[in-house]
Amino acid sequence: MTTNAIAFAPGRANLIGEHTDYNQGLALPFAISEGVTVRATALGDGRIDAIAVDVGEQDSFEIGRPGRAGGWRAFVRGAAGELGQAGVELRGASLEITGTVPRGAGLSSSAALEVSVVLALLAVSDASPPDQIELAKLCSRIENDWVGAQTGLLDQISSLCGERDRALRIDFRSLDVRPVSLELGDFSLVTVDSGEKHMHAGSGYNERRAECARACSELRVDSLREVTLADADGLPPVLRRRVRHVITENERVDAAVAALERADMIELGGLLDASHASLRDCYAVSTPAVEQTVRRCKGAGALGARIMGGGFGGHVIALLPPDAGPLAGAVEVRPGDGARVSAR
Ligand code: GLA
Repeated sequence: MTTNAIAFAPGRANLIGEHTDYNQGLALPFAISEGVTVRATALGDGRIDAIAVDVGEQDSFEIGRPGRAGGWRAFVRGAAGELGQAGVELRGASLEITGTVPRGAGLSSSAALEVSVVLALLAVSDASPPDQIELAKLCSRIENDWVGAQTGLLDQISSLCGERDRALRIDFRSLDVRPVSLELGDFSLVTVDSGEKHMHAGSGYNERRAECARACSELRVDSLREVTLADADGLPPVLRRRVRHVITENERVDAAVAALERADMIELGGLLDASHASLRDCYAVSTPAVEQTVRRCKGAGALGARIMGGGFGGHVIALLPPDAGPLAGAVEVRPGDGARVSAR
């Protein structure tokens, strides 16, 4: 019987392919080295006791009756609730949670939290995890049904399937995940904080999702993957712009894969810029603070820079050449391994 386990799940950066996951489109994210660690110890009494060390808070609930709560507690209770729903016989456990991903910054601290808690609970319950895609779906239900953010599968698949030195080309229609070498030579990818925090559940994220659903119902399709630019012509202007972003962003993902294969950094940078312009002008998820951050990146010589993640604040990702000028607050991001569990 496993009595102690340590689960780690990374956050993620997304090179390109934003707001495409819930539209059955394409994206090219990678796991980063920062993440959430859960130290779990089995307890005999049918309860989960959790401590969020970084914020100095605790929670405690009965396994079979997690009940609702807000903030980080929703993720822990949701993890127990969804695992129970999936038929896993959970054991009582104490969980000590620590993290290194900045929260609300577009680096997916949420997925790192839910994936690490789920893996820790499975480990101390001696339950074998389902395959990674099923696990990603279970984790996204925590976010959808317990936290109230209608996010897609981008973050969970990135956290679970990440590979060192590789990005993942994810096709959200087939759920096929293909590693793509992300060797940048002397070039580097950095993230820069816009200083503006975002909260998915409270932001326009759910509204964007609803707009895409409305476009689908007007076009009588199941997803925007089935739609061409010409099809969108008859939609009201706002919906037409949203659809334009999604279709062109999918194209940019495959163009970015091709650019990486040719090691064409100029082309890759241009695609990041085009993605940003589309996210700002068609998808309307940028803010003045983000625009200023993008300008700072370009001013330092970035070949391309774009808002990353759900939007409405958070981080910008930029591709820097070897001779880039100083860029205050830039943090290099490199593709790292996906989530893992070890015995303590
Ligand atoms: C957030 C969501 C993801 C994805 C991105 C936008 O990170 O959690 O599912 O929709 O926004 O690409």
